[in-house]
Amino acid sequence: MRIAAIDQGTTSTRLLLADSAGDIRIAHSVRHGQHYPNPGWVEHDPLELLRNVAACVTEAGQVDAIGLDNQGESCLAWDAVSGEPLSPVIVWQDSRTRETLERLRADGAEELTLARAGLPLDPYFSASKLGWIMANVPAARAALAAGRLRLGTTDSFFLDRLGERFVTDATTASRTSLMNLAACTWDEELCRLFGVPIEALPPIGPTAGTVIATIGKVPLTASVVDQQAALYGHGCRKPGDAKITFGTGAFALALTGSRIVQSPETGLLPTVAWKIGDETTYAVDGGVYDAGAAVEWLGRIGLMKGVEELQSFAEPAAIDRDLVFVPALSGLACPHWDRSAAGLWLGLSADTTRELMLQSALEGIALATVDVIGAMDGEVVLGSTLSIDGGLSRSPYFTQFLADALQRRIVTQSFDELTGFGCAAMAALALNGELPPLQGKSSVLDGRPGKGSNWRSKFADAVSRCRGWRQ
Ligand code: G3P
Repeated sequence: MRIAAIDQGTTSTRLLLADSAGDIRIAHSVRHGQHYPNPGWVEHDPLELLRNVAACVTEAGQVDAIGLDNQGESCLAWDAVSGEPLSPVIVWQDSRTRETLERLRADGAEELTLARAGLPLDPYFSASKLGWIMANVPAARAALAAGRLRLGTTDSFFLDRLGERFVTDATTASRTSLMNLAACTWDEELCRLFGVPIEALPPIGPTAGTVIATIGKVPLTASVVDQQAALYGHGCRKPGDAKITFGTGAFALALTGSRIVQSPETGLLPTVAWKIGDETTYAVDGGVYDAGAAVEWLGRIGLMKGVEELQSFAEPAAIDRDLVFVPALSGLACPHWDRSAAGLWLGLSADTTRELMLQSALEGIALATVDVIGAMDGEVVLGSTLSIDGGLSRSPYFTQFLADALQRRIVTQSFDELTGFGCAAMAALALNGELPPLQGKSSVLDGRPGKGSNWRSKFADAVSRCRGWRQ
């Protein structure tokens, strides 16, 4: 059994090949353009993404199944007949709909979104982005009038164009804020609220376990959000199993089984982990918008010369030397959901060094995810170990600081393409196959007793000061 998993993420598209003998490798990886046409706007070129996904299919060659994972909430409009995009991909990070959502919140609409989709009103989710397209792109309105409009997340565009199936899966639909989370069907009232014509949306299908589309002659047997793929890749299967992926953002997910955790006061998001056959498994999700994005910014402004600078730092921690960083470059997501918050360094003095600023930046990213895990702790009985992956999980300083702040055991894998691996493992289900577990070493780190006892309260103080800054 040979499986190709295509990981279409925020910054790159990667092909992972895995077989039943345990051979697993990244066979192709290509980055794509990030476009920022206005402050707060983030776009991708749909045809560039499509070309990159198609190149992965070609590179994969002869395989028994394909899995595809996607970047979640990012969405677009296209023409049903010609397949041509009618809008750019509006990326999950894009906050152009902030004011519209503030108006909806003032009208009391959040009660409805929380009750049906489980989600607060935030530009992160696809609903307001699709509504923006309908309000601002005349070509989309013309296509609707002509009965040839398609609206969807990027997965449905790729599957329509490459597999001639206009379909999405329950994990991706659960990120739109248009789906009734319990029924896994589009909700007419939510669609009306956001101005999204329900007839232009794709049917919602399963995540894995069956043939979802056929690309060339190869069955595509898994289609899933990248975070959920990583959750599966980490081996999380039972309620309480959790992972954190440190990519562009940091995304923590914990399985809750058949239970939908609805606790808006915690800021956690209930979401679909996967739908396999008729069985829907749920998770709680907590995202931090800027993790790798903050590291990338440190490089862009010249504060960091290279990621090797992030491997080790002198003790004590920067926060113990009273320097705190809040990575709210795009506002605060879970558990605060506050786009008025701004990035903040608190405690700068004339003897603050560049290295200390880098150290506190890493600590701030770690502490923002600690807040998310703290929120989860009250709702889910989390296992004693937490599995992490992504760029920052390769920094020994970062992982030890995280373990200390959480006072938990942290596990990292030497082969840490957990998203692609999880997607491949899901694709194997329809072939009644199971991929062997990842080879290679995993590292285990324990939180050092006594460390970090006042870090959370110091960080909470800094968080409270960064809110309300952006109008
Ligand atoms: O919610 C957005 C998230 O799924 C994006 O993940 O890895 O593409 O940055 P990534």
